Amino acid sequence: MTVQDKELVPGLAGIPAAESSISYIDGQAGILEYRGHRIETLAEKSNFEETSWLLLNGELPTKAQLNGFRKKLNGYRGIGDDVVEVISKLPKQGHPMAALQAGLAMLGMESPVIDVHDAAQREDACARLIAATPTLVAAFARARAGKPFVAPDPNLDTAANFLYMLNGQKPDALEAHVLDVCLVLHADHTMNASTFAARVVASTEADPYSVCASAVGALKGPLHGGANERVLEQLEAIGSAAAVPAWLEKMSASKGKIMGFGHRVYKTKDPRAKRLQTLVREVREKLGSTPVYDTALALEDAVVAKLGAKGIHPNVDFFSGIVYEKLGIPTDFFTPIFAIARVTGWLAHWCEQMDGNKIFRPGQIYTGVHDATYVPIDQRG
Ligand code: CMC
Repeated sequence: MTVQDKELVPGLAGIPAAESSISYIDGQAGILEYRGHRIETLAEKSNFEETSWLLLNGELPTKAQLNGFRKKLNGYRGIGDDVVEVISKLPKQGHPMAALQAGLAMLGMESPVIDVHDAAQREDACARLIAATPTLVAAFARARAGKPFVAPDPNLDTAANFLYMLNGQKPDALEAHVLDVCLVLHADHTMNASTFAARVVASTEADPYSVCASAVGALKGPLHGGANERVLEQLEAIGSAAAVPAWLEKMSASKGKIMGFGHRVYKTKDPRAKRLQTLVREVREKLGSTPVYDTALALEDAVVAKLGAKGIHPNVDFFSGIVYEKLGIPTDFFTPIFAIARVTGWLAHWCEQMDGNKIFRPGQIYTGVHDATYVPIDQRG
């Protein structure tokens, strides 16, 4: 049997692309684990740095290991003046995810060339990328707003540092905590599109900057990470809870996709969406009301009543935008925040792919013609 006789599975749905011990999803029960640890536990008890270590190394760090990792990240958060300058010259109307791809490419050009089969060199590259990604994102946000670059503060962790570099002032404990939980929730998610993209590029033995820049491109799409921006735009376009039924009727009639709903694997409410919803409640209590939240609750009820039987429930992107909006983050920076977290997952998969690597080279079912006649250009109709 040749590949030509095989049955195509669109989107490779349900086809294993790798063996992995990094994360696990039970889509029926709504369970997500990182290295065997339930996401709810990590969101409550861990933090982004510890969770990153866990994803990269397979087990929770000791105090000394975590302190060493934090120190390393703090040492690598800075980006060169030349990188800041290039980022400041990127088109202001362009998307921040494109700016992140450009920033990662430039950072890769400046970083030491590594042997991707050397675990110690990989570990160092992972720290560099996890540390510098938030700085690249914040640098573009500042440049676009016509504000000067804010250098990272070596005393702040990833979440607090990002908010500091974005706003030029240190966040309060609640804001830093809320973003930190969001980063934990987004750090890995099995073989999603961007992770698959990362593993495909990794399998060519490309450098980790190329791996992450490619994954950023995949994450940007509205069916993947880009959905979180669309959710907020959608809620604002609906306008109020009362307007939900008519909006949904119109959407269903046009067979449009409702942003923030549905998932290839989850057929129940995404456990990350549940935790993000509690974060929305926390920020509402402490930072004031969020009008879009009432619309979101009405939309969830209406969509689940209509499509719940088909397994369509809120996914991670449904509530994250509401949280980020409350933190004062511009809408088109929601997906870059997803990237700041997911870079850890991509890198854990990069390391895993490198151990026992085989270049990805799937087959295809050819549907074109054979033996076509070459007609000279001046004889073509
Ligand atoms: N709104 C309305 N109908 C939907 C939705 C939705 N959001 N999602 C799936 N469906 C329907 C779809 O129309 C199809 O119906 P039918 O069988 O009658 O043709 C059925 O459910 C299966 O949908 P599918 O698109 O074939 O499912 P998929 O597994 O290929 O796609 C998805 C998964 C996430 C791309 C899709 O649910 C979607 O487009 N959702 C909206 C975008 C979104 O929120 N993306 C974020 C995903 S989670 C975080 C991340 O990955 O970044």
